[in-house]
Order: sequence, then C-alpha cells, then structure tokens
Amino acid sequence: MAPPFPVFRNTRLLAGEGNGPIDANLVTAAPKAIVSGLNRNGITWQSGAIPSAVQIGGSCSPSVEWPMSSSNTQHWNPAQYSKNARFVSDLGMPVVDWLDPRPGERILDLGCGDGALSRKLVDRGCEVVGVDASAAMIAAAQALGLDAQVVDGHSLPFENEFDAVFSNAALHWMTAPERVVSGVWRALKPGGRFVGEFGGHGNVAGIVAALGAALTARGLTVPDPWYFPRPEEYGKLLRSHGFEVTRLDLMPRPTLLPGDVGDWLATFAQAYTAALPVAERGDFIAGLVEALRGPLCDANGAWWADYVRLRFSATKPDAA
Ligand code: BEZ
Repeated sequence: MAPPFPVFRNTRLLAGEGNGPIDANLVTAAPKAIVSGLNRNGITWQSGAIPSAVQIGGSCSPSVEWPMSSSNTQHWNPAQYSKNARFVSDLGMPVVDWLDPRPGERILDLGCGDGALSRKLVDRGCEVVGVDASAAMIAAAQALGLDAQVVDGHSLPFENEFDAVFSNAALHWMTAPERVVSGVWRALKPGGRFVGEFGGHGNVAGIVAALGAALTARGLTVPDPWYFPRPEEYGKLLRSHGFEVTRLDLMPRPTLLPGDVGDWLATFAQAYTAALPVAERGDFIAGLVEALRGPLCDANGAWWADYVRLRFSATKPDAA
C-alpha cells in the first residue's frame, strides 16, 4: 500500500552539521504536494510552501484569536487513544532501537502516554520512570505496573539521575522546547543519552492547512498547538545546552490510520475543535474529512496522515 501523496526523501544532518542552512525544498516538498491537493478541493492559499493563512471560499470577517492553548484544550482518553492511536507506540520501535537500552539502565520516558513503550523498556531489564502531563494516561500506565508520574515536560524535577531520556511522539506537544531540553539536561547523568522522535518540520501540514482554513472561514484562529522544528533548528537547540548531537534525521513517514481522518482529528486536534461550540464540532470535522479525502484517502478508501518525523540521538558529555 502506498499513500495517495508524493513522499520526499529523508534529510540527514550528521554530527556537527546543522548550524548552516539546508535545502528547504527537501523538507517542504511533501507538504506542498498535499496542500496543493487541498487546493484542488476548493481551498486556496497564499505564496510560500506551507501556508501561514489559507481560506475556504471568499472573504471572511476579521479573525478572532482563540485564547486557550493546547495544554488546557487537549484531553486524553486512554480508550479513545488505544482505538485511534495505537500506531503511535507500534511505530515507535525504531527509536527504541536508536536508544539501544541496556539491562539495568535507569531511563526516563518523557511523555510516556499510556506506557506502551515504557513497558517494552522494562521488559528489556531497564528501570523506567514514565512522565506525562495527562493524569488519565498516567493512570493507564500505572495500570500496566509502571512507575509513572504526572509531570509537565516543561518542568522536569529530576537531577543527574538517568542514564537516558527517551521520548516518542511527545515533544511536539511541548511548545517551550528550551525548558524541556534544560530539564532533560539536568535529569541526565554525565554521559547520558537523549534519544527521541517527534513531529518535524512539515508534519501533518495538509491537515494543519485544512484546519486553519476551516477555522478562518468561521472567523477564528487558534495559536499553533504543536512544535514541529526543522532539523537544523533542533540540533542548534540541543547543542546550545551542551549536548553532542550524534544523529538527527528528518524523514517522511506517511502513516496508515486505523480509521478516517475524522477519528484522528477527534483524538489529536482538540486545540482546534475546542474553538467551536460543542454542537458545531461534528459538522466541522465532517467538513474536514471531505476537504481531506482527495489528498489523504487512497483508491482503496484507506486514510493516510502526512507524518514527518524528526528522530535524534544526543549525548551529555562525560565532562559535563
Ligand atoms: C504526531 O505524532 O506527529 C502528531 C500527533 C498528533 C498531533 C500532531 C502531531
């Protein structure tokens, strides 16, 4: 099976790279194609590879900024997550391989969600602490017998105690990344590793464009709830805290969804849907499913999300 949109090739920054410019066309090619698919479905956008503002139809009233951030509009429901998002942990094994966990290591799983990957680390003989901002997800992780705590990743309370910090599909929810990286640095022992994967530049760009367009048409805007950096930007951030960056890849990963994009939106895009009265959210999502059918639904009726992953491995030097 193949996604209905073209896929660009990986961008790899090797150790020591990343302070200079990289070829922006490489990292924006797929989103451009998807957004142009949206255009065929009646959405127009202004210049630039990824639209900062898109509109459905004609002019609309001045935008009203919705005041809430994702942190208080996104609510996690472990049962819904398990049904619509199990692929998140299922597809997390390559980053576990990069972590290369060894028995006896003490590992912090940052943004552990319902603990599916923490459990795998424990099964490999590691001593794992899982943290997540969602009390509901932490309760699900604890039900797996894990040491899991409700902690905001922006305020990690740990000092010099972990051999590694691991994170899968969580860092894009933490929109003050300097605070996160500072906390990770503090939490690690000298020689410790920070290995993770999250949404990188261009991630779900077609979905984001359609969401923005649909809200704009209603006179609303929502602050960007997600952090999807370019690799050179994230590499620079890690190095500015003292990390040695050993690997940093931006890679497209078109992801087959278990349902349609409406299920994805209901699970993950509450920062956007919360801008609408509850009674209007069903129609809002139904409209987006139709707008995204052309770009994201293949000839067999299977839905794909235009995921782009940023995967990295960094080390706190021994001397630190
Ligand atoms: C992601 O895993 O890339 C992602 C999931 C939900 C919202 C945004 C991004």
